[in-house]
Amino acid sequence: MYLTLDDYRKESVNRLTKMARDYYEAGSDTESSLRRNEAAFRRLLVIPRCLRDVSQIDCQTDWLNTVVKIPIGVAPSAFQKMAHPQGELATTRGASQAGALMILSSWSTTAVGEVTNEASRYGGHVWFQLYVYRDREVTKYLIEQAEKAGVKALVLTVDTPVLGRRLADQRNNFKLPEHLGFANIPKSDKRQQMAEVEQGHSGLLDYVKHQIDPSLSWQTLKWIKTKTSLPIIVKGVMRPEDALLAIEHGASGIVVSNHGGRQMDSTAATIEVLPSIIRAVNKKIPVFVDGGIRSGQDALKAVALGATGVFIGRPILWALSVEGASGVKRALNIMQQEFAEGMRLVGCRSIKELQEDKNLIVHENNVHKL
Ligand SMILES: Cc1cc2nc3c(=O)[nH]c(=O)nc-3n(C[C@H](O)[C@H](O)[C@H](O)COP(=O)(O)O)c2cc1C
Repeated sequence: MYLTLDDYRKESVNRLTKMARDYYEAGSDTESSLRRNEAAFRRLLVIPRCLRDVSQIDCQTDWLNTVVKIPIGVAPSAFQKMAHPQGELATTRGASQAGALMILSSWSTTAVGEVTNEASRYGGHVWFQLYVYRDREVTKYLIEQAEKAGVKALVLTVDTPVLGRRLADQRNNFKLPEHLGFANIPKSDKRQQMAEVEQGHSGLLDYVKHQIDPSLSWQTLKWIKTKTSLPIIVKGVMRPEDALLAIEHGASGIVVSNHGGRQMDSTAATIEVLPSIIRAVNKKIPVFVDGGIRSGQDALKAVALGATGVFIGRPILWALSVEGASGVKRALNIMQQEFAEGMRLVGCRSIKELQEDKNLIVHENNVHKL
């Protein structure tokens, strides 16, 4: 019986090939960022209020003009058909049925148009995550396809000028299975596939080295804005200064993220840097966060600290590998229920009340100061 996201994690281990499992689970180098993301949530304690009549609560919130019933969405993750034959279609169906917004990766194994069709069948919403290729024609093509498909926003990933060194992928000579490809790139284009992988190499690391643009800068954001009228959310911000630059360059939102510990190793946890970024942004644009969120309680802590919402990465892949679309729906329902129950148990009736209570979340080192 799957009662927590961790239940899906345990079972997922039995459902995936070693290459897929290692690709999904890995962090970069020593994986200290990966571990810290999760551990940092354990160091945040909740001090609940009582007797506040929580018979009626409302967890609804607005994400760039899309109403979401609980502030928890699906982070973009590549190559989902390695987890389940229906891949991204199953994820979007499950997410839409749970009323959660999904961000689709540039590197999905299902084309963006198919994914948005599936989402609209179930009343769901999709944002498209963008990687910037050295060849700007490819980048333009991705933006055009996403717009044509009807996504509601672009999510520009800015923490991947080069790919983090994921040792397991190198040891496994990571490569996509033959029948899968980068589905948003036309079949006729060689970039639809990874090149042959040499011993001790990761096919993805080599792909990024050759195809993805390491000269990405704030000018690139300006350039993207000339190509689309969609709102752009910058994903991978870890510093208040960069959050302010994102606002200055016309971003409609940011995601505080260290890519789930897969890029720079030894970073602070995302939940640790969130408060200073929230203060700097000062409500000018929505601030989302991802990394290490494994329960509705973790999500509640992030939202109480001021995040507009959270995204979850690996747990969705665990649930997808175990039960396809119904697993994704159930995993999200579990988190939603934990979040709503958490609201009741801390005595908050709305997201606004949750965020106004400045004494709700306390770092364990500060408890004695209460
Ligand atoms: C297997 C996997 C693939 C990912 N692929 C992408 C991607 O294509 N684009 C992107 O911006 N982030 C990607 N990410 C990062 C996630 O969007 C997100 O930042 C991270 O997974 C959040 O951490 P969590 O897994 O601890 O929830 C990927 C993460 C994983 C685990």
